[in-house]
Amino acid sequence: MRKQLVAGALALAMLTGTMAAAGCAGTEPKNDASANVPAGAPPLMPASHDGRFESLGAPGCYGCHGASERSNPMLNGSVALPEDHYVDGSSQTLELDPTHDQCNTCHVQG
Ligand code: HEC
Ligand code: HEC
Repeated sequence: MRKQLVAGALALAMLTGTMAAAGCAGTEPKNDASANVPAGAPPLMPASHDGRFESLGAPGCYGCHGASERSNPMLNGSVALPEDHYVDGSSQTLELDPTHDQCNTCHVQG
């Protein structure tokens, strides 16, 4: 997990760098892609996420949406992963359950 955290943090640093350069750091549009997703079904990835899974992989997603010892989610303003996405069904493990590694099989790009 430690390695994944580092990779996630790196990916995040690179990503926020690009967003800052584009002049939109922290002002991503609100996700309305999931307006028609029924309750309990996986929400779609918002438009801002296009290509993210391919470039960052699950550790990249975790770097914003996942839990650390200090905060859950790590990125203030993102959406915390449901507890069932973690090993033992608990964010306390700070580790993704392997059944949830392939984010984009459930969370389709909106
Ligand atoms: C740079 C930080 C960051 C990264 C990396 C990131 N996200 Fe997000 N994500 C956000 C933020 C912030 C929101 C909420 C704002 C928005 O809708 O854009 C969000 C929203 C979402 C939502 C919608 C949640 C809801 O309840 O509507 C999904 C699903 C999601 N992300 C999945 C992913 C997946 C899968 C990955 C990896 C491919 C990923 N995210 C990577 C920051 C991030
Ligand atoms: C096996 C299918 C599946 C996989 C794989 C999966 N998810 Fe989910 N995810 C779901 C479902 C279903 C929900 C909706 C849960 C609910 O509404 O009770 C969800 C909800 C979410 C939410 C929104 C939580 C909220 O409170 O609105 C985020 C963010 C998220 N997932 C991110 C991810 C990321 C990042 C990954 C990859 C690391 C991932 N998911 C992998 C099925 C999946």
